[in-house]
Amino acid sequence: MNGPAPILAQTGMSFAAFKRQVRIPINDMPAYSERMLSDKELMDIFVFVRSLPGRRPVKDFPILNN
Ligand code: HEM
Repeated sequence: MNGPAPILAQTGMSFAAFKRQVRIPINDMPAYSERMLSDKELMDIFVFVRSLPGRRPVKDFPILNN
């Protein structure tokens, strides 16, 4: 890969844009056809990643604060 994959937690992307990237990806990401991943499964993933809390501050990780 040319670089890190972007953070998807709390993505502001529309489902249409999210789906476009998965079906016809730009750059390095592998494509997922509807045969491999249905629109329903993709919607489930979209709802899941949007529900994730996202980045947390370093102070919230005890192991990084010793
Ligand atoms: C079902 C699984 C996946 C979903 C739902 C997904 C979703 C996405 C989305 C929505 C973006 C665009 C984000 C943005 O522009 O802010 C993206 C970009 C990207 N994803 Fe994925 N992705 C998946 C699997 C993968 C896998 C398996 C890889 C690597 C092996 C990968 C690597 C990347 C990379 C590197 C980008 C940045 C664009 C590029 O350079 O291709 N993704 N992904």
